[in-house]
Order: sequence, then C-alpha cells, then structure tokens
Amino acid sequence: TSMSEFLARVPKIELHLHLEGSIRPETALALSVKNGVKLPPFQEVKDLYRYETLEEFLAIYTAVSDSVVSADDYRRITYEMLQSCAGSNARYVEFFFSPQVHFPNGISFDTQMDGITAGMADAERDFGIVSRAAPGVNRELGPAAGEELLDMILVRGDQKLIGIGLDFNEAPFPPEPYGPLFARAREAGLNVTAHAGETGPADFVRSSIDSLGVRRIDHGYHVVDDEDLMKRCRDEGILFTVCPSTSAVTSPWHDLSAPDHAIRRMKDFDLKVMINSDDPPMFFTDLGGEYEKAAGPLGFSPADIRTSILTAIEGSWLDEETKKDWT
Ligand code: ADE
Ligand code: ZN
Repeated sequence: TSMSEFLARVPKIELHLHLEGSIRPETALALSVKNGVKLPPFQEVKDLYRYETLEEFLAIYTAVSDSVVSADDYRRITYEMLQSCAGSNARYVEFFFSPQVHFPNGISFDTQMDGITAGMADAERDFGIVSRAAPGVNRELGPAAGEELLDMILVRGDQKLIGIGLDFNEAPFPPEPYGPLFARAREAGLNVTAHAGETGPADFVRSSIDSLGVRRIDHGYHVVDDEDLMKRCRDEGILFTVCPSTSAVTSPWHDLSAPDHAIRRMKDFDLKVMINSDDPPMFFTDLGGEYEKAAGPLGFSPADIRTSILTAIEGSWLDEETKKDWT
C-alpha cells in the first residue's frame, strides 16, 4: 500500500539501538566459531533469539556479545548494524554499545573503539549513513565501575563518542547512585540518556530526570502509571525513545494493538515519543518494521509518524545547525 511505501521511504533517525543487540544470528554463529566461544544451545541459529523477559533477553545478549573479540569483529558488527539501518532509510544513528560486558574477556576500550570507528567510517562511505556512539553504563555493575568507564571515554576523547546511556536490568538498580557519574559526564560535555520505566516503575523515570539530569528517556513505558509525572514530562518536553517490538516482550504491555498499550497512551497524551528499534535482529525486526508496528497496531496516523521523526531530530544530539537543516 502507499502507507507501507511511505513508511519504507521516509528518511529516518535512530536514537535507541544497541550495537551488540544488532548482531545478526548468522554473524553470532560465525564469530563464535571463529573465536572458539560457546553460544547457548540452539537447534537453528535464529532460535537463539527466544526469550520472554528482560532477564532472559539480557542473558542471550551477553552470551552473543562474548563472541565479539577482535577490533575487526567490532568493525564487522558495526558495519552490519549500520547497513541494516540504511536499509530502513535511516540517515543518522546514535547507538549504544556495552564496553563493560567485554572487559572480563580482556578486550580493551581502545580495541572496541578502533573497530567501531572503522565500521562507522566504512558504513558512511558505502551507505552515506552518519552515526555517533554512546557507551551504555551497565547499571548492574555499580557506579564505581561506571566511573572507570567514564575515565576511559574521556581519555579516548573521540569526537564520535557523544554521550552515555544507562542500561541493563532496572530492578533492583535505581538511577540515584549514578547521579555523580552523570554529573561528571555532563560537565565534560557528554550528552546523557537513561533506560527507565521499561521494567522499572514510573519513579525511575522521575529520578532519572531529577538525579541524572537526563532530558531523554529510553523506553519509559511505566510513566503511564503516574499521571502527574506524565503531565510534568509533557510540560518539560521530555523525549521518549520507544521501541514497539521490545515493549511487547519486556514490558507488561504485550499486545501492541491493545487500546491501553503504554506507547499508544504516551502518544495520545502528547508526550514526545519517537520510534526506534533497540535490538532489531534479536526481536526479529528492523527500524522500518518498528514504523510499521507504530502505524499499524499502535495506531499512529501519518501525522503522528511525521511528528515522531521531527521529534527525533529535535531530541538527537546533532548540533543545532544540522537540526535546522533537517527540519
Ligand atoms: N540492553 C539492550 N537492550 C536493552 C533493553 N531493552 N533494556 C535494558 N538494557 C538493554
Ligand atoms: Zn535499549
């Protein structure tokens, strides 16, 4: 239909995407064989990507991450991730990666960055896609480990490293202990965002804004449980990077066509939501597929889709000049 064509063609921005969550099943298999790293048992390689909760998902995410070892492995997964984004007509991508998952395997931040920046450059050359990276602080590992990661980011001083995120399991890991780390990152000129309200309560959305100083929330679905907070987020223009396919697995809103689905309610309340793909192959989707789900079961009108894309430009960490050019 013409709607599908419009959704496929419209230029997009991706702001919530995890590098290791973008590893294709065939690539995970090839890297695990090459590097002699064991994957969890599976019948067919696509069956690796089966889970019913965030915890189960994160266990597979970590196991698959372990198969990435050399700088060239990083180059490959970065290139393939951006190739898929370009296939959905994404023009600009801000992506997370999980440096701390790889440290116990002896892989340094510099090795990771060498491969990632090579993959970014190759993808920009081949597909014209522009990208920036944001290491995700693993909230399960505590603030001290996060501070060490921040040191590495600042020492590296790479122009392509434009921010930090906060991810992995929310409960029992609230945002507050990460306040000093996020303050230091902001003072150093990094942009900040945090996963909150995916499996954690509305309070984690509030405390991410208050203690971490973020203006962007990744997921944020549980905001709908707290009407005062919803009003505040609307008044303050907090931006939510929502991910339909992930929400159907990790949040309590499993049915995207339900009238009370959190993403639909956030949109209907006029919160600033933008459509993203999170861990696309791991949830059998891509950015175009997430737009299809928004325009289909989630009930986004063409105007809502347009608003979402303009919101993404505004909420991105592009410089103000470029933002003006793109709107
Ligand atoms: N890392 C990758 N995807 C994630 C998600 N949906 N929630 C928390 N951490 C993640
Ligand atoms: Zn995420």
